[in-house]
Amino acid sequence: MSTATSESDITKEAKKRRTFAIISHPDAGKTTLTEKLLLYGGALHEAGSIRARKASRHAASDWMSIEQERGISVTSSVLRFEKEGIKYNLLDTPGHKDFSEDTLRTLVAADSGLMVIDVAKGVEEQTEKLFEVCKLREVPVITFVNKCDRPGMEPLEILSNIENKLGIEAVPASWPMGYGHKFQGIYDVIEKKVHMYQKSEHGAKKAVTEVLDLEEALAKSDMSKVEKEAFEEEVMLIDDMYENMDREEYATGKVTPVFFGSALHNFGLDVFLNYFHQLAPHPQQYKTPEGMARDLNDGFSGFIFKMQANMNPDHRDCAAFIRVASGKFERGQQVTIAGLGKKVKMSTPHTLMGDDRQLMEEAYPGDIVSIFNPGSFRIGTTIFEQNEVKFDVIPLFTPEHFQKVATKDPFKRKQLREGLKQLSEEGVVHVFEVPNGVGNELLLGTVGVLQFEVVEHRMLTEYGVELIKTPVSYHCARWLPNGKDDVIEKLEASYSTHVTKDMEDNPIVLFDSQYALSQGEEKVGTENLFKFKQG
Ligand code: G4P
Repeated sequence: MSTATSESDITKEAKKRRTFAIISHPDAGKTTLTEKLLLYGGALHEAGSIRARKASRHAASDWMSIEQERGISVTSSVLRFEKEGIKYNLLDTPGHKDFSEDTLRTLVAADSGLMVIDVAKGVEEQTEKLFEVCKLREVPVITFVNKCDRPGMEPLEILSNIENKLGIEAVPASWPMGYGHKFQGIYDVIEKKVHMYQKSEHGAKKAVTEVLDLEEALAKSDMSKVEKEAFEEEVMLIDDMYENMDREEYATGKVTPVFFGSALHNFGLDVFLNYFHQLAPHPQQYKTPEGMARDLNDGFSGFIFKMQANMNPDHRDCAAFIRVASGKFERGQQVTIAGLGKKVKMSTPHTLMGDDRQLMEEAYPGDIVSIFNPGSFRIGTTIFEQNEVKFDVIPLFTPEHFQKVATKDPFKRKQLREGLKQLSEEGVVHVFEVPNGVGNELLLGTVGVLQFEVVEHRMLTEYGVELIKTPVSYHCARWLPNGKDDVIEKLEASYSTHVTKDMEDNPIVLFDSQYALSQGEEKVGTENLFKFKQG
């Protein structure tokens, strides 16, 4: 099918879109901020429903049943909202126990990251992990320092914290007037005005705001003379810092503009949203492994970044989430699966808006389409309508949790292998074989612990295999380059390193301790030990 839409229409549509994901540590305020973005974006009239949704999904078992009862994916929602002609696609990145490889993969489908940090805690562990993926892809990251209404680090201290933990430059794009309980306004670095706020009832409605010149704001504020002087000095300093921000470095994720505020009380959100759409890039061209950029007008293409099985308990179905990389996607379009040459008709594409599933008639670069897997889709699969292309955008992430598994019923060994192979192909879990003296044992590796529960649940319900699980503690793992036997030999010589392969033949090394990792790095060099690897 050839599209009637002209090239410039596709570029125009792409330019209206901002596809981003929030990167944060649990409790930093991601849910609250998401809800407030929807409130300010006009998609919600009163805040509350997203939190209710979060509250009902804290346990793994709940997660399973919620997924099944509702027949939709709670964990992989794309929240869409539109404000002043800009269409935002916010990709959900689950936290807590449900943090998994999917969370990391989602970032591959985003054009920018919104990093939410708790002002009292600074950059935390999960944020660091998610940030690594943004760094790998060189996508811009915009920072929102949250909970400024509570005691925490001083603004300059939090900038240093970001710089030291993440190795990027942090440039203020707004500045809090007063910290903690004295927090009363936000200085807008670009407009050079102060937004003075009054708390609304539990932040359910937009905050009442007065936009004032610096002098007026200072006159109105209840800060002491010393505090006022300090604020004036800071403002001069940050004006300079923002003006000198290197836009190119920002575009490749080496500099992050930092906004301050309180998601709960709606402080600083208006300032943030005024600039977010200018700072967050519209959909960018994805590159092929050969380094060729796919032009946005080069016909429909997209890739699958997430698969979600068993979304409907009545059918053994599996939804594939496609990020549109170029061109126009239309319902009913026939696409080709890159590498296989197989043709597939996209008859029932959906979009997810919160918990609502809606039929999707058309989509443009930056949009996410979900479709029931016709059987041949895998994580990383590229599909295209015309002008053949194959992306290789999904890296292998390093598993951090390991478990040995066997089947309780020895007659089900075949089903065990078959099931695990399927789950490994779907990207649910990494499966390795490790020798145990008599034969080979199966070892599962995951990024998040919930993945084990998903495997256990699916092995039982789909393959009738009850697993016996034995925890094993490796300190960490690193992927190895393919075809470098000398690297493998050097690593195999050590007692505390274990070289193995996953079911797709990707070599990996498991280390018993930090010391073993350092020894390994010395032996083969860090350039041969990958945290992320193209599969
Ligand atoms: P998450 O999705 O990143 O895990 O965080 P979430 O938004 O659920 O926020 C975690 C806690 O932090 C919540 O409190 C929330 O109300 C609070 N919070 C979020 N933003 C702010 C802020 O700007 N200021 C202050 N003071 N608190 C904030 P909770 O006690 O866990 O839940 P609840 O009792 O408020 O529902």
